[in-house]
Amino acid sequence: MVPAAGRGERLGPGAPKALRELGGAPLLVHAVRALARSRAVGLVVVAAPPDGVAEVVGLLDSHGLDGKDVRVVAGGATRQESVRLGLAAIGEQVEIVLVHDAARPLVPVEVVDAVAAAVRAGAQAVVPAVPLADTVKRVGPAPAGGPEPVLDTPDRATLRAVQTPQGFRRSLLAEVHARALAEQEAGLAPAVTDDAGLVEHYGGQVVVVPGHEEAFKVTRPLDLVLAEAVLARRRASDGF
Ligand code: CTP
Ligand code: MG
Repeated sequence: MVPAAGRGERLGPGAPKALRELGGAPLLVHAVRALARSRAVGLVVVAAPPDGVAEVVGLLDSHGLDGKDVRVVAGGATRQESVRLGLAAIGEQVEIVLVHDAARPLVPVEVVDAVAAAVRAGAQAVVPAVPLADTVKRVGPAPAGGPEPVLDTPDRATLRAVQTPQGFRRSLLAEVHARALAEQEAGLAPAVTDDAGLVEHYGGQVVVVPGHEEAFKVTRPLDLVLAEAVLARRRASDGF
C-alpha cells in the first residue's frame, strides 16, 4: 500500500510530491517499482491525490510495472486517512500488508524483503530503522521572545530513525486504523505519525529490522538533490 496523496508542502511549490520527477520518472513510479521488485509483493495499491487519480493510473500504465497487479484509489486529507482508504481496497484474503511512502523512491529491495520476511516469520508489526547520526534533544515551549529551553537528551544509542515499508498482519493494521478513526470521530485523535505508531498506541508489539540509508524520505529540496545523486550512482554502476 503506497500513500501518495500528500502535497509536499516542505518540498516547495510545484506538482504534488509523489508526481515530482527524479531521473525521468515520478517519485511514485520509483517507489512502486522498488516494491514490485520484491517477490513478496503481489499487489500494489496506491492512494493518489484525490484530484489526480486518472493521472496516476496513466503514469503507472505508461511506466510498465513487472506484471504486478496495481490498483489506484483516491487518498485522503491526512496520511492516516490515505492508508485507511488504501487498505479498504485490499481483500481480506491478503494476510500481510507493507505500507510504503511514495516519498521514499530509492528503498533497496533487500529492505522490502526483510520487512516481509519478519512478518511472515510471525511478527505483528515490523519497521525498518537506522541509528541516528545527530544527538537529539527534547525542548519545551519558548517563553515569549526567548529561545526554546532544552529539557533533556535521550540516550542516542536507544533511538532509531524509522523508515518504510512498515509491515503488518493485514487484520491488525485494519483494526488499529478503524479504532483510530472511531477515536478521531469522538474528538480524541491519537497523535501518531506512522502506522506502527498506531499499533503501539493500542498496545501491540512492533519490532525493528535494519533499514538502509538509501530508504530516506524526500522531504525538503536538498533530499531531491541527494536522490538524484544516488540514482546517478546506481545507473553508473549498472552500466547505463
Ligand atoms: N500522504 C498521503 N496522504 C496525505 C498526506 C501524505 O498519502 N494526505 C503520503 C505522502 O504522499 C507521502 C507519505 O504520506 O508519500 C509521507 O508523507 P510526507 O513525507 O509528509 O509527504 P507530504 O505530506 O506530501 O509532504 P509535506 O508534509 O511536506 O506536505
Ligand atoms: Mg506530510
